[in-house]
Amino acid sequence: MKDVKACLFDLDGVIVDTAKYHYLAWKRLAEELGFEFTKEQNERLKGVSRMKSLDILLEIGGLSFDDKTKEKLAEKKNNWYVEYISKMDSSEILPGVISFLNSLKENNIKIALGSVSKNSKLILEKTGITHYFDAIIDGTKITHAKPNPEVFLKGAQELNIDPKYCVVFEDAQAGIEAAINAGMHSIGVGSPEILNKADLVIPSFEDMTIEKLWLV
Ligand code: BG6
Ligand code: MG
Repeated sequence: MKDVKACLFDLDGVIVDTAKYHYLAWKRLAEELGFEFTKEQNERLKGVSRMKSLDILLEIGGLSFDDKTKEKLAEKKNNWYVEYISKMDSSEILPGVISFLNSLKENNIKIALGSVSKNSKLILEKTGITHYFDAIIDGTKITHAKPNPEVFLKGAQELNIDPKYCVVFEDAQAGIEAAINAGMHSIGVGSPEILNKADLVIPSFEDMTIEKLWLV
């Protein structure tokens, strides 16, 4: 599509590799609760909200708790996660991201963040890239997690751009589905086997150019 007017970016796994910190914190919680949590199992948590992630983790461990205890466990995980991400800096921005954001600016294409994480703003601040975004929609502004399209529709609305001129960048299946549900184009960042519903898949932003936006 030649008339792309906005690009909407997921955060975790697209702009920064915070998936590893989410994993470390969930693993620490699992170990405290007395069970193992593997990297393979962690794939199920990508793009999923904090409370839903906890439900999946507890299902893996064969445990169940009342809502109040679950709130406490999620808070504990989040405190560890915040401890990890507080040490982040610009060196953790994934390769090719900054140069692609700059080329979007040069081409007058709007930039929005569409993440379900409530820690988005802290990560953008720590890595020093807040100023690139014309709109920031994060977990504090939405009620429905992906694959619900809310996060992306709110982004398009804030930019005042019709969803059909928007392209979403995502590393999670649920995120690609959210883009489709929003009536937007999508580019998967990662493996084509996992992101097979995307219009196009790139291994990383090192392979991304403005011209590739025209292919979706
Ligand atoms: C998503 C991550 O971006 O945010 C998930 O892919 C995470 O793994 C979710 O659970 C919620 O994040 P947070 O920071 O609000 O717990
Ligand atoms: Mg992601």
